[in-house]
Amino acid sequence: MQVFGLLGNPVGHSLSPPMHEAAYDELGLDARYVTFEPEPDDAEAAVCGADALGIAGLNVTIPFKQDVLSVVDPDPMAERIGAVNTIDFSGTEPTGHNTDATGAMRALRDHDVPIDGARAVVVGAGGAGRAVSFGLADAGATVAIANRTESKATDLAEAVPDASGHGLADLESLVADADVLINATSVGMEEDATPVPAEALHGELAVMDAVYRPLETRLLEDAAAVGARTVDGAWMLLYQGVEAFELWTGRDAPVDEMNEALRSRL
Ligand code: ATR
Repeated sequence: MQVFGLLGNPVGHSLSPPMHEAAYDELGLDARYVTFEPEPDDAEAAVCGADALGIAGLNVTIPFKQDVLSVVDPDPMAERIGAVNTIDFSGTEPTGHNTDATGAMRALRDHDVPIDGARAVVVGAGGAGRAVSFGLADAGATVAIANRTESKATDLAEAVPDASGHGLADLESLVADADVLINATSVGMEEDATPVPAEALHGELAVMDAVYRPLETRLLEDAAAVGARTVDGAWMLLYQGVEAFELWTGRDAPVDEMNEALRSRL
């Protein structure tokens, strides 16, 4: 039996176990997906221990995505983002990947949102903002990053090709000229709040929200009201899992079954 899992603290409410186990069931794989919650200082020891125990793969979440970089060989995307969310133990040494970036792009493509040549606005310059910004730039978009703490946006923009960094005050003018808008802040999570004023939205936009609780955030409701295309946060969560599954198993993921397992719990 292969063992996969999630390393985080806390991991109690994670939707990854049912999502991945739905895929194992569908494909008849002899595998389990379990959660691990090491103490905050023990991430590196946990990865080395997992390797020694023959664990096949780990997802990594808050607060360990940076910590594990020192004990894995990161792929170029994970290295540039400075964060790992997926570890593969199948080689001679553990490799680190970032399927938050590739998964977010796959969520957009799945909804027929063109990325190559698009003008994209990313709100947020934390972990999610970094992953999404690099993912967009690699896929050919021009990225404007707006963040409450402007210096984090300008710092990130220096690392991302063709990107610009801004404070939130620039949002309205940036969004007016944009094709794609992504919320990568926590604003709207379990609250009726939006990081982007409704007046800034328009019908030519595709709007994706990293927040998935609730699925219909204030931002997505405002976007739908002006005729914009919307992509909810469960698609990002789904596709980071799909990309991890495919990396670990080398097989096409049963996306519909994973999606059903996820959405039935949201
Ligand atoms: P994650 O890994 O989920 O991206 P994070 O690294 O803590 O989490 O980043 C949270 C993001 O949400 C940041 O961009 C943060 O802005 P700051 O860098 O200024 O802190 C943003 N954020 C959180 N609360 C916010 C709020 N009330 N208004 C605007 N931005 C907010």
